[in-house]
Amino acid sequence: MPLANTLTLISGGTRGIGLATAKLFALNGSRIVILGRDQDRIKHVLDKELAPIASPSGHVGFQCDVSKSEDVEQAIKEVSKIAPVDYLVSSAGIARDSLLIAQSTHDMESLINTNLMGTIWINKAIAKGMIRRKRGAIINISSVVGIQGNIGQSIYSASKAALIGFSKSLSKELGSRGITVNVIAPGYIDTDMTSSIPEEKKKEIIAKTSLGRFGHPEDVAEAALFLAQAKFITGQVLVVDGGLI
Ligand SMILES: NC(=O)c1ccc[n+]([C@@H]2O[C@H](COP(=O)([O-])OP(=O)(O)OC[C@H]3O[C@@H](n4cnc5c(N)ncnc54)[C@H](OP(=O)(O)O)[C@@H]3O)[C@@H](O)[C@H]2O)c1
Repeated sequence: MPLANTLTLISGGTRGIGLATAKLFALNGSRIVILGRDQDRIKHVLDKELAPIASPSGHVGFQCDVSKSEDVEQAIKEVSKIAPVDYLVSSAGIARDSLLIAQSTHDMESLINTNLMGTIWINKAIAKGMIRRKRGAIINISSVVGIQGNIGQSIYSASKAALIGFSKSLSKELGSRGITVNVIAPGYIDTDMTSSIPEEKKKEIIAKTSLGRFGHPEDVAEAALFLAQAKFITGQVLVVDGGLI
């Protein structure tokens, strides 16, 4: 088991890409801690999705709204009582599509506070422990939209582009301690987040990919597992989009 005796913290581990990553890391021997806002959903994932994947001490979940720094600090305090974090996958995120001129201030703030600040709070909170132990890998989930932009997603893409600059800088701050910080930029992945895209639009997107399909959450999970174990890769953006961009 390549990830035996490790702990992986996954924000947004209750659904989609985060959940697929939680399962894959657990199958590779890591103990999993998931964070999400919905307590019932956390319980469901722990009982039904992760419990069948054995871990000597069991997988754990905490309710945490990553957009609130105090929630993140409290959650990380609880996590630190369990074991040090070896791997962080920051996947919690939201989409609120709208043309800029029509987008509400509330939605703009939610996008920045969740996608960008949520990742920053959690990176900051776990970095201290990783620095002390001189080990760790951080994987932040951005988007191809943060690289090339998209109509109706100016604030979403701003949050995702900022994550790339943030992660590249952090990789330089933490590299001397043996900690890697990388970014995954997924293309269109079949999750709750993309479920409301109309079928016609989906066909258009698929036609632009080289591989002729939407991604599966597992496609992104595999990239995360690769980056978690890659010892000499840091400050990079791995695009996982089936050839879209
Ligand atoms: N799907 C795609 O095509 C795609 C493409 C590029 C990038 N991404 C990025 O990939 C990441 C995962 O997306 P997904 O497709 O897996 O979405 P998803 O299925 O909607 O899952 C989102 C996850 O984030 C959690 N979450 C949202 N806001 C949160 C908050 N404030 N605090 C804590 N947890 C929060 C959700 O849990 P609760 O709702 O229970 O809190 C859920 O577990 C996101 O950052 C997204 O921007 C997705």
